Amino acid sequence: MKEFATLIIDGKEMKLPVITGTEGEKAIDIRSLRQETGFITYDPGFANTGSCKSKITFMNGEKGVLRYRGIPIEQLAEKSSFVETSYLLINGHLPTQEELTRNSIMLNDQSMVHEDMQIFFQNFPRLSHPMGILSAMVNALRSFYPELITTEEEFQKVFIRMLSKVRTMAAMSYKISRGHKVIYPRADYTYCANFLNMMFDSPVNPYQIDYEIVKALNTFWILHADHEQNCSTSAVKTVGSSRANIYASVSAGIAALWGPLHGGANQAVIEMLTDIHKKGGGIKEVVEKAKNKRSSFRLMGFGHRVYKTYDPRAKIMKKICDKVLPKLKIDDPLLDIAKQLEEVALNDQYFIDKYLYPNVDFYSGILLRAMGIPTNMFPVMFAIGRLPGWIAQWKEHMDDKEQKIVRPRQIYMGKNKISYTPISKRDSSSADTESDD
Ligand code: ACO
Repeated sequence: MKEFATLIIDGKEMKLPVITGTEGEKAIDIRSLRQETGFITYDPGFANTGSCKSKITFMNGEKGVLRYRGIPIEQLAEKSSFVETSYLLINGHLPTQEELTRNSIMLNDQSMVHEDMQIFFQNFPRLSHPMGILSAMVNALRSFYPELITTEEEFQKVFIRMLSKVRTMAAMSYKISRGHKVIYPRADYTYCANFLNMMFDSPVNPYQIDYEIVKALNTFWILHADHEQNCSTSAVKTVGSSRANIYASVSAGIAALWGPLHGGANQAVIEMLTDIHKKGGGIKEVVEKAKNKRSSFRLMGFGHRVYKTYDPRAKIMKKICDKVLPKLKIDDPLLDIAKQLEEVALNDQYFIDKYLYPNVDFYSGILLRAMGIPTNMFPVMFAIGRLPGWIAQWKEHMDDKEQKIVRPRQIYMGKNKISYTPISKRDSSSADTESDD
């Protein structure tokens, strides 16, 4: 039976249809609201607004649940590879062996970056942030591959191209930022091993693939692969909704991810932990500063729009740090500081009352440091991981007949109509000119 919610405005009753998701989540369909009542809704940051119906990722923020295409993140982190998880997100099912092999061949075929692109890379100032470079270069891919996506086959090709090339471009930007020779991808390495080799191999020090690190990197990227309608995914879809091309859309997603409240938080966490380490203590002071409303400082890697409990990805990330660091014989003092900070914050009434728990970024930087990834590359690592999610969500948006160009409304709070004042008659008081009506 169809369910409705009743809204009473100015004494007039309106019945709004209720939409129920497959996991029981309920939404009120307000699409006819403005036309029938003249009212709009007010929801800054869209915290209570469902922008789409999606079959890709399920999250339950109260229970700390995350599933890609129905499969719990814990199972994927343990059993899957990043390439397989990407296939799952894009195609809706796990690949057969034959599909996975075909996918790997295509990834290899697409792994090189056009040589002309190197000129662009070489001309960024040396201190450019790699996220700015990556966003610009992904946008530039459109100039090299201008074909439109009109069939499923073409979409698959573009997806593979981006997944493969973005990884190569990320490693290239690191090498060039150091003034080092670019290392090309190799067909005999898996996706993650190839990335590590392109990052760390050099003519003087050949890189030895460590399969412990390869496994950890696979898990790191699986944990970042999708997170439903987050800020960067919404940016990708917003740009895509104007029918801008997929490269421009993803480039916007990278720009959105760069911010410290989103994917830039992994870099900010390490900077915060390093600062505590250098000063030799001060965990309580940092927590107090984060609570102080006069300061804009926040405890980085803590809090989440959706999770009101421990982020399931952070739980896995913490476990991997505990497992991988000893295996690599790394004793990182930042891991201890992070654990102490977590304990202090989780027992503090401010964090308890606001349901602020560690998010994925709290421990991820420690793992990346152990792999030898430089701090300013951390958001780029997040971006490579989030790529399949962005593209799967972009595709779903494009195929969804109910979607329209993204164009929220506003409540205007400015001046009422006033007349134009000629410059000869303007003085400082003219700023307060009364309204005409
Ligand atoms: N430290 C201190 N206080 C915090 C923190 C924090 N990390 N996070 C939220 N709060 C407080 C806010 O000040 C606010 O307090 P108030 O109600 O007294 O004003 C309350 O908790 C709610 O915070 P909002 O900002 O309204 O929550 P929102 O859902 O908009 O923000 C966000 C979520 C951006 C993640 C926020 O928790 C934050 O800034 N965290 C730190 C940055 C971070 O780790 N980002 C990574 C997020 S995960 C990801 O994107 C991959």
